[in-house]
Amino acid sequence: MEIIRTVADMKARAAAWKAEGLSIGLVPTMGSLHEGHESLMDAARAASDRVVVSVFVNPIQFGPGEDYEAYPRDLERDARICERRGVDVVFHPEVDDMYAPAHNTFVVMETLTDSLCGASRPGHFRGVCTVVTKLFNIVQPHRAFFGQKDAQQLAIIKRMVADLNMNVTVVGCPIVREADGLAKSSRNAYLSAEERQAALVLSRAIFAGKAAVEAGERDAAALKALMGGIIEAEPLARIDYVEVVDGVTMQPTDAIGAMALVAMAVYIGSTRLIDNFLYEEGE
Ligand code: PAJ
Repeated sequence: MEIIRTVADMKARAAAWKAEGLSIGLVPTMGSLHEGHESLMDAARAASDRVVVSVFVNPIQFGPGEDYEAYPRDLERDARICERRGVDVVFHPEVDDMYAPAHNTFVVMETLTDSLCGASRPGHFRGVCTVVTKLFNIVQPHRAFFGQKDAQQLAIIKRMVADLNMNVTVVGCPIVREADGLAKSSRNAYLSAEERQAALVLSRAIFAGKAAVEAGERDAAALKALMGGIIEAEPLARIDYVEVVDGVTMQPTDAIGAMALVAMAVYIGSTRLIDNFLYEEGE
């Protein structure tokens, strides 16, 4: 496995692979890798001749006062994980190489980015769409792998690829959880032992909501009340949002239709965690 640290070298490597007719799978990450990321690597490995994992903490998707500086970084550990998973290249560019001082072009979406995390984190998805577009242009992947854990991000990337006729297939992969239900996240490392226990309210609320929908609940307000009640019972938890949106447009909806995303963001102490489930009729 190789670590490539410049945009120019990564572009050259991708071009050489393409010239050989090899298919490229890309897993974009911000590092601090865990089993959620590893599941994406496995999916990429199974579907591609060459697998690239990008490890880049993207400054432009963090807002003022968010955890850009504190975000955990350990490239050596990340590289060991990638190597074990049969990754070919870890792409780890410098911020200045990705964003020249004169950088002035951003990818901005009209409405999918207004709700959920987009409402709480203004500019976040502008940063995500811009960096993912750049990664697609640099790595030239045939397929790119994203987790359902960040359901709005996945929906947005799918929309962007379709809208801008990008030559990449976006593959969504299921949420990987700890044995007790907590969705794996790089940010779980911020939690104290007491907060780690309290964080279980997220998955408890998700599982209860999912069970209610499977039992026939279709009223978004009732569902939000049920899930919100579970979270509010935990003193260390503070709700950012609990929302039901259309699974494609990401717009809030009163009734659970053919495809709905039920999503939440909850602060446990000062750590903001997200979780969700996607309801698809007949699945
Ligand atoms: P990051 O948070 O590192 O996540 C990278 C990818 O791993 C995302 O597609 C995310 O959905 C997926 N992932 C994280 N936790 C997961 C879990 N428990 N189960 C399944 N998949 C999981 O998302 C980002 O980075 C960035 O926004 C990025 C797309 C790299 C752009 O900077």
